[in-house]
Amino acid sequence: LPYQIRFYPELLSTQNEAQRLAMEGAEEGTVVIADKQTKGRGRLGREWESSMGTGLAVSLILKPDVPAYKAPQLTLVAAVSVVKAIEQITGVKAEIKWPNDLLIEGKKVCGILTEMQADPDRIKSVIVGIGLNVNETVFPEHLHHIAASLSGFADSPPERAQLAAAVLNQFAEDYELYKQSGFAGVKAEWESYSCTLGRKIQVRQNGSYINGTAEAVDSQGVLKLRDKDGILHSIVSGDIEIS
Ligand code: BTN
Repeated sequence: LPYQIRFYPELLSTQNEAQRLAMEGAEEGTVVIADKQTKGRGRLGREWESSMGTGLAVSLILKPDVPAYKAPQLTLVAAVSVVKAIEQITGVKAEIKWPNDLLIEGKKVCGILTEMQADPDRIKSVIVGIGLNVNETVFPEHLHHIAASLSGFADSPPERAQLAAAVLNQFAEDYELYKQSGFAGVKAEWESYSCTLGRKIQVRQNGSYINGTAEAVDSQGVLKLRDKDGILHSIVSGDIEIS
């Protein structure tokens, strides 16, 4: 995956810029990195705070030759890549909370946002956005108990450029594997980094809650939840809460 990196001191959102470039025909491997985002976006319409210039905000343009329903798998692939990159650079072990959060000691240090542009079924492009908290020391009040940055766990303050390079190199490798073997190719690694499997979780689906145990992810990256009556539910997307 030859990368073409575009660096910006400040953007509203690397995700929006990558989308704009993709519409203009930017190639697979185009990467948008911003020092600061003034309107970073999270999943489900949430904000992603990254205006301090202390984190990493990256969006990658990909054009995988897979049907549209598989695009969310790229979130899981990227999560594996970022866990490995974090460990390479800082020695710190993060865990994956399905589908898109990386946690250290239960606190979120990274979020991944995968969005796609598609014709009815054919993918035109997928934008994988990675937001990593690196050297933040203060968080907005409402995030105090749920967010953290890598610097809180590493021996010395991590270098953002080093982390960016490690994330991109690692992802290039894992994306190759994904293109050859699908999510099945990275599934074992995903499982080994997961803090979701085997845990009691709650998922909101169609307005109501399902409680149960996260039993497995299948070869498509779908989460299998077993409820107290023994019924197995397939969770394709959404937010889970681990209890
Ligand atoms: C989430 O956990 O809700 C996902 C957060 C994703 C944040 C990243 S930062 C780089 C890219 N640009 C954005 O505006 N959002 C993503």
